[in-house]
Amino acid sequence: MKAISYSRYGSPGVLKPVTLPKPAPKPDEVLVRIHATSVTSGDYRARSLDMPAGFGLIGRLVFGLFRPRHKILGTEFAGVVEAVGNKVTRFRPGDRVFAYPGATFGGYAEYAAISQQAAIAHVPDNLRLDVAVALSFGGATALDFLRTKGSIKPGDRVLVIGASGNVGSAAVQLAKTFGAHVTGTASTGKRNMVAALGADAVLDYTASDPSGAKDAYDIILDTSGAATYAEYGAALKPGGRLLLASSSLWQMLAALTARKTGGRKAIPGYAPERTGDLRFLAGLARRGQFTPFIDRRFPLDQAAEAHAWLENPARKGNVVITLDTD
Ligand SMILES: NC(=O)c1ccc[n+]([C@@H]2O[C@H](COP(=O)([O-])OP(=O)(O)OC[C@H]3O[C@@H](n4cnc5c(N)ncnc54)[C@H](OP(=O)(O)O)[C@@H]3O)[C@@H](O)[C@H]2O)c1
Repeated sequence: MKAISYSRYGSPGVLKPVTLPKPAPKPDEVLVRIHATSVTSGDYRARSLDMPAGFGLIGRLVFGLFRPRHKILGTEFAGVVEAVGNKVTRFRPGDRVFAYPGATFGGYAEYAAISQQAAIAHVPDNLRLDVAVALSFGGATALDFLRTKGSIKPGDRVLVIGASGNVGSAAVQLAKTFGAHVTGTASTGKRNMVAALGADAVLDYTASDPSGAKDAYDIILDTSGAATYAEYGAALKPGGRLLLASSSLWQMLAALTARKTGGRKAIPGYAPERTGDLRFLAGLARRGQFTPFIDRRFPLDQAAEAHAWLENPARKGNVVITLDTD
């Protein structure tokens, strides 16, 4: 099978086409013929080892100390089940599925074998595979931070910092489905995009400082890595939560140890890959309540160009990679 592989950390040019044996599914595995995968900030970090300050060693421990442990990137993929192992009960050949292997990767290939116990779910009938592919990374991260860590509820006032990005564009839409009033921040050229996602208000962070509000938000979700508790703590209402999806180790420690009043909290952490979350996101997508924002699609043999586009400041939301499935 065709795949895109890398054997050393570096620029997008480290991604090279290779031919590999087609995987055979183990007894509890599903063999998926991949139709689409994506370039996420997870792929970017694993390729470049560009980690938030203080997390360099953790990056090497996760992705491989001196060279990449998982040579085929792709944190999420969507496709059609081609074969199943003899212990698989949840999937059958022909099923349309999307999967979120996360930091075990594997999407940049024509086929992947994945355990039926992993984060994998059926794609709703009304959704194309090259759209469904982008439900997982941004959607599951936004869902975990807003619902599990942030306990979002109807009527909450939510500020999404980095609302034009992958996680942020999902967070705006999900927070709206939870009945929140949503403000998103974006750079000037991306304000219209964030408004079109359904944000009630959009703040251009290059023109005014979004941290200036006082007692304004129940939840502030930072996906930019730029927010600190020192700046944003006062913008939280009493009981409010600053959710740090991205931060340096020092920002995280400062946020956790900062003196907080009125029950305000800072919550950093990792958003895990869960089948239940994928099913929830698929349900929203089926009802038209969550549509991943896809900026550009690239064919698999242009994976390096797709990675370069992810790093371009003009990029919005998701970058999808499509496979020739003829
Ligand atoms: N904790 C977890 O489990 C988890 C899971 C997934 C991702 N992450 C992390 O979350 C972060 C976001 O991921 P992503 O995939 O959504 O990345 P992304 O698509 O690149 O989005 C980041 C957004 O941040 C905005 N931004 C950049 N600098 C800013 C600044 N100074 N002030 C305000 N906004 C700024 C950008 O908006 P503009 O272009 O409009 O400037 C961009 O849209 C990454 O650091 C990633 O590693 C964490």
